[in-house]
Amino acid sequence: MSTPEHAGPWGGPPPPTPPSGVPRASVELSLAPHAAPADEDAAEQSAGEIGPTGRPLRVVSEPPLIAHHGPAKILAICNQKGGVGKTTSTINLGAALSEYGRRVLLVDFDPQGALSVGLGVHPHQLDQTIYNVIMERDVTVRDVIMQTHVEGMDLLPSNIDLSAAEIQLVSEVGREHTLVRTLRPVIDHYDYVLVDCQPSLGLLTVNALAAADGVLIPLECEFFSLRGVALLIDTIEKVRERLNPKLEITGILATMYDPRTLHSREVMARVVEAFGEVVFDTVINRTVRFPETTVAGEPITRWAPRSAGAKAYRALAREVIAR
Ligand SMILES: Nc1ncnc2c1ncn2[C@@H]1O[C@H](COP(=O)(O)OP(=O)(O)OP(=O)(O)O)[C@@H](O)[C@H]1O
Ligand SMILES: [Mg+2]
Repeated sequence: MSTPEHAGPWGGPPPPTPPSGVPRASVELSLAPHAAPADEDAAEQSAGEIGPTGRPLRVVSEPPLIAHHGPAKILAICNQKGGVGKTTSTINLGAALSEYGRRVLLVDFDPQGALSVGLGVHPHQLDQTIYNVIMERDVTVRDVIMQTHVEGMDLLPSNIDLSAAEIQLVSEVGREHTLVRTLRPVIDHYDYVLVDCQPSLGLLTVNALAAADGVLIPLECEFFSLRGVALLIDTIEKVRERLNPKLEITGILATMYDPRTLHSREVMARVVEAFGEVVFDTVINRTVRFPETTVAGEPITRWAPRSAGAKAYRALAREVIAR
């Protein structure tokens, strides 16, 4: 059962509107409510100008509003390297897509539950999570989906229970297709389903890849970030050949970029050299704003709507919609 303050979007009572600045379900740590956010960091870049990828920035106009929703495009946010910005990108891309009128479901597919925490949910207090949907026949995905503070964006939460699923699934028939079976009943309701993967290439991640239409790979602008990407791409190719022929690499997203350091610029140049057009024009700069948003339990698009980070994730959302 969902907790009362997290009634699901499937007919339960609507969650109470929190007073402004107060998260609906806040984590213990909290920051003072933020003042009107300043327009900070770098100015927005305009089309034609050379972007951080070394290519001229393309014009990606505001996407048109849509009258009908679904069926959803499923994107797996995936990189087996830890701490590269998978969870941060899932939350903020999701929030930016919902600002453009898209219905979004975020799937926390990491037993760490960081995505749930980042949206102000206490994972250890949940009665039911994605684990119950996967393992128990009488629990449906609709029972477990929760609304978030962001209009049009829902969450399928997880907690440490999910780590048991990885072991329990090994002996199941069709074990790689468990997630796609889980999501099928709600796929027509959403425009995008973003699956936040754990930092490994184990069975949970293979399930995410088997369910996905596309993979979005966040890559930290740091020297060792390219190590392991070959293995990730090899895994994606195997999943495409053996389990899911429609799987594509939607894009590679450079994260934690620091334009002031030569090092960041060099790594960026190598990433573009290695992967070319698949690298998004949008690059996410390194800023303390992101760790702050985790504490606040909100996406940056709400916490600091005019910040460079919020603008960057909106630009990414436009690219994702256009691809
Ligand atoms: N652009 C950024 N600038 C600065 N810090 C960032 C940025 N993006 C993410 N972070 C911070 O880096 C840490 C790791 O980010 P995040 O949790 O999104 O990575 P992850 O790939 O999901 O990690 P894991 O592999 O553990 O799941 C977090 O504390 C997050 O707040
Ligand atoms: Mg994560």
